[in-house]
Order: sequence, then structure tokens, then C-alpha cells
Amino acid sequence: MVAVTGASGYIGAWLVKLLLEKGYTVRATVRNPNDTQKTAHLRSLPNAETNLSFHKAELLDEGAFGEVFEGVDGVFHMASPFPMAAPEDPEADLIAPAVKGAESAIKAAAGTKKPIKRVVLTSSTAAVRIKQIAPGKAFEEDDWSDEERMRNFKIWYPLSKTLAEKRAWELAKELNVDLVTVNPSMVTGPIIQPSLNTSSNELLKYLDGSVKAYPNSCMVWVDVRDVALAHLIAYEHPDAAGRLFAAPHEISYKELTDFLAKEYPNAPVPRVCADPEGEKNNPPPRNPCSVVKLEKLGLQFRPVWQSFHETLESLKEKGLYTPA
Ligand SMILES: NC(=O)c1ccc[n+]([C@@H]2O[C@H](COP(=O)([O-])OP(=O)(O)OC[C@H]3O[C@@H](n4cnc5c(N)ncnc54)[C@H](OP(=O)(O)O)[C@@H]3O)[C@@H](O)[C@H]2O)c1
Repeated sequence: MVAVTGASGYIGAWLVKLLLEKGYTVRATVRNPNDTQKTAHLRSLPNAETNLSFHKAELLDEGAFGEVFEGVDGVFHMASPFPMAAPEDPEADLIAPAVKGAESAIKAAAGTKKPIKRVVLTSSTAAVRIKQIAPGKAFEEDDWSDEERMRNFKIWYPLSKTLAEKRAWELAKELNVDLVTVNPSMVTGPIIQPSLNTSSNELLKYLDGSVKAYPNSCMVWVDVRDVALAHLIAYEHPDAAGRLFAAPHEISYKELTDFLAKEYPNAPVPRVCADPEGEKNNPPPRNPCSVVKLEKLGLQFRPVWQSFHETLESLKEKGLYTPA
């Protein structure tokens, strides 16, 4: 039996689906188990009727996970805010829930009567990549996003993930908890949940006219099904340890918008760069993330263009995107 926090979300739903398929009994934490909007998509997953239960947990509450972790063999701590808009109060809206949630998860895992085998925490490459690095150099496990840089540039979500992951490692060491983190890049692929999530919107905003010019930069992408599998490998594989980067595909926004314009010729996809001089003279630096650890543990990442295609198909199916 395992617990999954943040089960209702985009990645959470795919992880719960995978765990149920593999025969696990899953305790899913959500803020409100009676909110059918947030739980119906999980209740209708294969095996959910018999093997899935819902438990109330709010990241800001003291001892949020004490009861729900009691008796489980493993924990997937995924809940953390990933908002579409910049938060009004970054400390209260983003940093506090991320850090307090990570603290509560590790403390609860350390305090159960039946020992917990392993905690897998969903961090992000946002906790890795926000630092200056030589062009062409790959980000490695010992790279951490630069806190001062993030505060100076008000890059709050990466700061919340960095502080939460650092606190988790600190506490895990202190309390002797077996912790492995999965650090995904921007996640794409079909959605299970009924509403739009932040990383799917990162694709949609280049199709719906809300962005007029693409940036002269790259984004790293990974399929949501590979992220779910990375979590399972992180939990089950005896050799899984440390930080596992799930970040295989570095794509420039020029490449992304070319693809979208071809897929949806009538959509208002931006065809100009926000920095035309830069685009001409300084193509965006490539800084991949090293994914060798997950590949060595057996994960073969899906090709990204198919994932983009399937994301948009699923957004259309759910009525979240209507092509022009
Ligand atoms: N998607 C990506 O591109 C990406 C990339 C790297 C890492 N991640 C990480 O992956 C995890 C899941 O992200 P996602 O993309 O699946 O986002 P999501 O769909 O927004 O899911 C976030 C989950 O966290 C829960 N949550 C947020 N604030 C909470 C609070 N105060 N108390 C309790 N639960 C709370 C949400 O519950 P509600 O449904 O009630 O809001 C939801 O279940 C996060 O840790 C995120 O940082 C995501």
C-alpha cells in the first residue's frame, strides 16, 4: 500500500493510474475528498473502486500526513502549488505550502509505527536550472538553482521547489528517511483531470493568440506518462537514489511554434521572435539535463512531438481547446 499526495493533479492522476494498474492499493490525498470535480476522474480509473481511497490533507496544516501515512509501505509526495499566474503573496501562496508540505511529508514518514520503505518526492528541474552555466554544458545532479538570482528576478515557483527539495533532503538525512527525488522538466502529454493545468497551458498559450512573439530560448519537456513511470522506478528500483532528472527533450520556442503552426495552420501561432536580433546573432543556448540515471534504471523516454500532438488531442476532447 502506498500514499500519493496531490493525487488529483495532472501528474498525480497518471501516477495513481499506473499504481492501480500495477496492483498497488493507493491512499490518495486531496484537499477535499467530497469535491467530485477533483476526484471523479480518479474514481473512474480501472481498479479504483477496490484499491483507491481518499484522504483529506492540506499542505499548510500542521501534521498534514500523520494519519494517512500510518500503515503504508511507501509515499509519493507530489502535492505542491504550480499556479498559472504569478502569486500575489509568493511567501504565503507558494513557498510556505511547498516547504511546509515537504517537511510534513518527511516528518510523517519518519514517525510511522510501520517503517516506510521509501519516500519519492516530486521536485522539478526548476530546482536545478535557474543558475548561470556555460553554454552547451549539461545540468548534473549537484546543480541547484541560485536562490539569490530567483529572489532578484522574482522567479517564485522555482524558488518554492528549490527550498522544498533542499528542506526535504536536510530532514531526510536527519531523520534517516530513504528519500529519492524525481525532477521533471516541463511536463506534456494527455490529461486525465477535467481542468487545464499549468504545463499544458504552456503549449496552449502559443495556439490561442495569447502570446504574440516567441522567446529566443529553449524549454525542456518530458511526457507525463514517463514522469509517472519515473516515480514508480524511483520507488521500486533498489538502485534508485538521489535526484533523478526526467528531462529528456530540449526544444527551442522556434521549433515548438513551427510544429504548432504546422499542426494547426489556422491557429494564431506566433511567427516572430520577441528578440529578432538575438535570434539572428545568438541562437538560444542549449543546456540539456543529464537523464542518464533514469535511463540506466530502465526508462526509455517517449519522443516529444507525439506527446505534444496527444496533449492537444486530449485538450480538444475535454473541451479545453477548440481550434480556429
Ligand atoms: N507539470 C509540470 O510541468 C511539472 C514539472 C516539474 C515538477 N512538477 C511538480 O509536479 C507536482 C504536480 O504538478 P502538476 O503539474 O500535476 O500540477 P497540478 O495539476 O496543479 O497538481 C498539483 C497538486 O498539488 C495539490 N496542492 C496544491 N496546493 C496544495 C495545498 N496547499 N494543499 C494540498 N494540496 C495542494 C493540488 O491540489 P488541488 O487540486 O486541490 O489544487 C494538486 O493535486 C508538483 O509538485 C509540481 O511542482 C510539475
